[in-house]
Amino acid sequence: MKSAKKVLILGVNGFIGSSLAWRMLTDTNWDVTGMDVSSGKISHCLECERFHFFKKDALADNDWIESAVRDCDVVLPLVAIATPALYVKDPLRVYRLDYESNIRVVEWCAKYGKRIVFPSTSEVYGMCPDAAFDEEQSSLVLGPIAKERWIYSCIKQMLDRVIWAYGKHEGLKFTLFRPFNFIGPKQDDINSPKEGASRVLTQFIHNIINGKPLKLVDGGAQERSFTFIDDGIDCLMKIIENKDGCADGQIFNIGNPEMKFSIRGLAELLISLISKYPGYADAAGKTVVENVSSREYYGEGYQDVPRRVPSIRRAREILGWNPKTTLEQAVRLTLDYHLLHKDYELERSFGR
Ligand code: UGA
Repeated sequence: MKSAKKVLILGVNGFIGSSLAWRMLTDTNWDVTGMDVSSGKISHCLECERFHFFKKDALADNDWIESAVRDCDVVLPLVAIATPALYVKDPLRVYRLDYESNIRVVEWCAKYGKRIVFPSTSEVYGMCPDAAFDEEQSSLVLGPIAKERWIYSCIKQMLDRVIWAYGKHEGLKFTLFRPFNFIGPKQDDINSPKEGASRVLTQFIHNIINGKPLKLVDGGAQERSFTFIDDGIDCLMKIIENKDGCADGQIFNIGNPEMKFSIRGLAELLISLISKYPGYADAAGKTVVENVSSREYYGEGYQDVPRRVPSIRRAREILGWNPKTTLEQAVRLTLDYHLLHKDYELERSFGR
């Protein structure tokens, strides 16, 4: 049993927060306080007595957040807009939520001497030309200001730098982690992904099962290293556990370099896997794949990341972590959830 901790997750109903809370409740004796504006993904957590949920707004409920930070040991501020279409369409909303709400949390962590485990992002590396992005060596390469897509990356980079400075100059205990295209069942709402407003896997599944064409932005040659949420949570648990302080003051990429796929490759894999699910062979077989320009799909302010592969040497060496799940397994588990209503998370924990 891991030593007891009081963990605060801001944005607990998100993709990462909901999986993380459930893992903590099933695998540890930690006390988990979660805050979010809604609770649809955490209904199973709500039944656990070590879980305390508060319906609050990250921009409005400052007094509550400050006192929750004061009362816990570790804070995970996971509140953020993380969909590229919104970086372009509503950059000020991204700024307010992702920057303004989080900088306050960083300051409270510094003020009250609390450990912060902060979600940086693979997006901070931007268009870095390195074959594998390295936390200590790679340059962070963003486009011009008019390419508004980079506001998210820039905000996260600024927060990374402020947290780093608080750590170095004022003793803040911190760890920065950088998720690389986490995928899994509860990522975005499969039933109502507005065109371009959800991440690529959800968008593609929705389109295939609803007879809509798959749109490959600028031809789909761009590559991502997809990471199954469960592998990501394994790594995060090691970070939060922080055995002998191994994660203190560190930055970790959390990704799966073996799962590097082009977007076109992802589209092909999905069509082939969905065709094997009962009742979906016809829809999958009829799927049309078409090219669309990024300007048409996202608008003027978009610029893409041509290739995104993490170095995970530090997570391997320092944390002893390794991702285990292949893209095919990850996609199958995601499809089982959406098409067969099977929840691997619940099955795994109740099966123990
Ligand atoms: C994402 C988001 O910025 C964040 O969720 C996160 O910080 C980061 O990456 C991450 O998870 O590492 P991106 O990789 O561009 O950004 O995520 P998607 O929106 O899933 O797009 C992936 C690629 O698919 C992009 O090149 C996009 O242009 C393409 N795409 C997307 C299509 O070709 N067609 C679509 O219908 C949707």
